Amino acid sequence: MSRTFYVTTPIYYVNDVPHIGHAYTTLAADVLARYKRLKGYDVFFLTGTDEHGQKVEKAANAAGETPLELADRVVKRFQALWEKLDISYNDFIRTTQERHKKGVTHLFREVMAKGDIYLGEYEDWYCTPCETFWTETQLIDGKCPDCNRPVEKLKEESYFFRMSKYQEQLLAHIEANPDFIQPKSRRNEIISFVKEGLRDLSVSRTSFNWGIPVPGNERHVIYVWFDALTNYITALGYPDQAGNYGKFWPVDAHLIGKDILRFHAVYWPTFLMAAGLPVPRKVFAHGWWTVEGQKMSKSLQNVVEPNMLVDKYGIDAVRYFLLREVPFGLDGDFSHAALVHRINSDLANDLGNLLSRSTAMVNKYFGGTLPQPGAMTELDAAFRARTEAMISQLESCMDEMAFSKGLQAIWEVISAGNKYIDESAPWTLAKDPAQKERLGTIMYTLLEAQRIVHTLLSAFMPRTAAKALGYLGCMEALRDEDLAWGKLVPGTQIAKAEALFPRIEDKAE
Ligand code: ME8
Repeated sequence: MSRTFYVTTPIYYVNDVPHIGHAYTTLAADVLARYKRLKGYDVFFLTGTDEHGQKVEKAANAAGETPLELADRVVKRFQALWEKLDISYNDFIRTTQERHKKGVTHLFREVMAKGDIYLGEYEDWYCTPCETFWTETQLIDGKCPDCNRPVEKLKEESYFFRMSKYQEQLLAHIEANPDFIQPKSRRNEIISFVKEGLRDLSVSRTSFNWGIPVPGNERHVIYVWFDALTNYITALGYPDQAGNYGKFWPVDAHLIGKDILRFHAVYWPTFLMAAGLPVPRKVFAHGWWTVEGQKMSKSLQNVVEPNMLVDKYGIDAVRYFLLREVPFGLDGDFSHAALVHRINSDLANDLGNLLSRSTAMVNKYFGGTLPQPGAMTELDAAFRARTEAMISQLESCMDEMAFSKGLQAIWEVISAGNKYIDESAPWTLAKDPAQKERLGTIMYTLLEAQRIVHTLLSAFMPRTAAKALGYLGCMEALRDEDLAWGKLVPGTQIAKAEALFPRIEDKAE
């Protein structure tokens, strides 16, 4: 039986159109999914949209549509973008789907039957944009501590989830599982938050209609976060515990932005504990992107549209940049200048140039036929060892979701390759017919290392990797076995590679 790997993105609200922040989480999940597939895992990669709640209802009213019309329209934007970015998701869940509503209703019933959901009354400060209630002491200058917008006093009958009951169990779980919440700094924040004390959580609303009704009391709709978080199991067929649920739950990695960590690391696990279901293995909260030094916002009109970036710079350049530029977990800044710099230096100069140089030499010295390698010298063996070491380096980086560090490990081999050419000076050897075998060994070593590099890069830049592997005569689907040294077959016809990434000369960028 093959090992399984289940990875998710947040389900995005349909009251906003996708921007690079959404693309970032989704891309990271895609890279992880592709990498795990390469490593032989049976992968389930889930993304989707969050379509209920007051925010969506308000946005629909403002646009003169029903909430479902709005959702149907915006969901297409997300799906089209994921197609454009080569996102290899296995399923796309929408919270308005029947399968989801059925699962949420079931979970709510289960927790209620246990006595952990009860009817009470709520009065507190409510922030509509964040869909969150705040206590008086949590407010900052009388405003929402998260978004700094005005809050309103709301009183309503509400169902409550006995979250307080699970405080100790959650804390014990976090402490016993150091990898459960990552990165570490965020884990510490959650530990302090839980230690301050968990209050029971209001899990229903009567102030609007757009949601899933509370079973047995249709005046209430289920709180949007209870509804939304449950997507991670309804997409697996929950409440049916056989099938995908049995196969993939608990999830291996929930990837999210730091803004929604509390929902994933506190609310969600306690809901699951109450229902007697296993909790996620890992919740990883990445950092926040600013744009040219400023917070991204509609009012500043600086929202970076991924479609535009892809049209301008190409898919793989965008995929590479977002994961390379900022260590996953830290905040980062997007700028066009930084993107152009990465394209010109890492992609055109290093990666592309290595492939063009080496395939050009095989054509010049061997008529494009890959030579048989002879005995390796120390120089060749060192380069081969460097290449093989990269495979396990990347493996541990991927386990830690250190995508940028993983790419750095790959780029060290690319630089080593360029240096290997300079040091072995094939152009000098080519002048001496007695050095033909030596020259052949160097060519083979160079191309073989790049075959392995591009096999790994297929997780990050699938199109570029496919193109490069095409030049090297390897077109088959990629598997773990392909990471072994020596798979290139002497005698293969090697075409001279065109530039993988043309340099961008525009100084105005
Ligand atoms: O919160 N930088 O949906 P959402 C990095 N529906 N990532 C960013 C970002 C930025 N500037 N802006 C957004 C919701 N993101 C809920 C989730 S899950 C059960 C329900 C990304 O549309 C990041 O992943 O507001 C963040 O967590 C997510 O978008 C929020 O998306």
